[in-house]
Amino acid sequence: MLDRSRLRGPRHACCQSREVSERDDVTGISGDIARVGVVGCGQMGAGIAEVCARSGLEVMVAETTGEALEIGRTRLHNSLAKAAERGKITAEELDATQARLSFTTDLGEFADRDLVIEAVVENEQVKTEIFQVLDQVVTRPDAILASNTSSIPLVKLAVATSRPDHVIGIHFFNPAPVQQLVELIPALTTSEGTLSRAQLFTEKVLGKHAIRAQDRSGFVVNALLIPYLLSAIRMFESGIASREDIDNGMEMGCAHPMGPLKLTDLIGLDTVASVAYSMYEEYKEPLYAAPPLLQRMVDAGRLGRKTGSGFYSYG
Ligand SMILES: NC(=O)c1ccc[n+]([C@@H]2O[C@H](COP(=O)([O-])OP(=O)(O)OC[C@H]3O[C@@H](n4cnc5c(N)ncnc54)[C@H](O)[C@@H]3O)[C@@H](O)[C@H]2O)c1
Repeated sequence: MLDRSRLRGPRHACCQSREVSERDDVTGISGDIARVGVVGCGQMGAGIAEVCARSGLEVMVAETTGEALEIGRTRLHNSLAKAAERGKITAEELDATQARLSFTTDLGEFADRDLVIEAVVENEQVKTEIFQVLDQVVTRPDAILASNTSSIPLVKLAVATSRPDHVIGIHFFNPAPVQQLVELIPALTTSEGTLSRAQLFTEKVLGKHAIRAQDRSGFVVNALLIPYLLSAIRMFESGIASREDIDNGMEMGCAHPMGPLKLTDLIGLDTVASVAYSMYEEYKEPLYAAPPLLQRMVDAGRLGRKTGSGFYSYG
């Protein structure tokens, strides 16, 4: 849990937000983002922190406990070491990137951040609480508060703060250092200035390709992907085909780089289930309903690669 007693920094006055919104209209100011905060250092948070640090930004990463922080730090350093081994970065770049990374369990240390990207578990209550805390601690009035959520309405996170015009979805894909795409999701309250700064930042600073989507559960990619993954799990659950034949079917028959059950293991079964629940909640369409097997596997702690077992086992 977050320790609110350790938080510092003034709450934001509405008048500050208005002044900043006017400044937001100035184009080309994404270069003012130098200090990034990333909340959560799981699969996505570690990848996002790596992308930002490799782009020359100073990045601070926050986790809940010292133990979770150590796991996240190791994940991030292993990924950077692999990038160096594969010749994607030089030994000097590796050292410089590591020097730009810092780690904390105290969100109060995010006071000077220009941009914060939240990448914690796909849980509305947990994310809302983090946005409330960020609103209190981040002092720069025009800082962008972004979420990497896959399905939670951005407007709910935006209105949990006193600066809903500066809250936006910046949705990266897994693994973030490899996948080119980001989705930008403005809430109803997000200012045009925040959206264009986020676009300039993701495209010009991080070198990603940004697509825009409305604030509807699943946005573009998951709205198409999740029903497909759920169909594959239903097919496996009903015994129509083995897991290998389902995956081979899509890899060899449709040239997908990874079959749907392997992809579910990569994303994390808990994340797929949470996204499916949010989408079902939004649309009430049966195609978004999670099959019982998915929830049973989540309950059993078989979350995929990150726990060593899901539809497949990982050594
Ligand atoms: N896995 C994917 O393929 C994928 C792709 C795009 C977006 N996302 C989204 O990214 C987010 C994270 O997913 P993930 O796959 O990295 O999950 P994960 O389970 O790998 O990591 C979540 C991390 O959040 C940390 N955490 C939980 N509560 C916290 C708090 N209060 N403060 C700080 N850290 C906290 C946990 O300790 C954990 O390390 C979710 O919103 C998910 O929907 C996931």
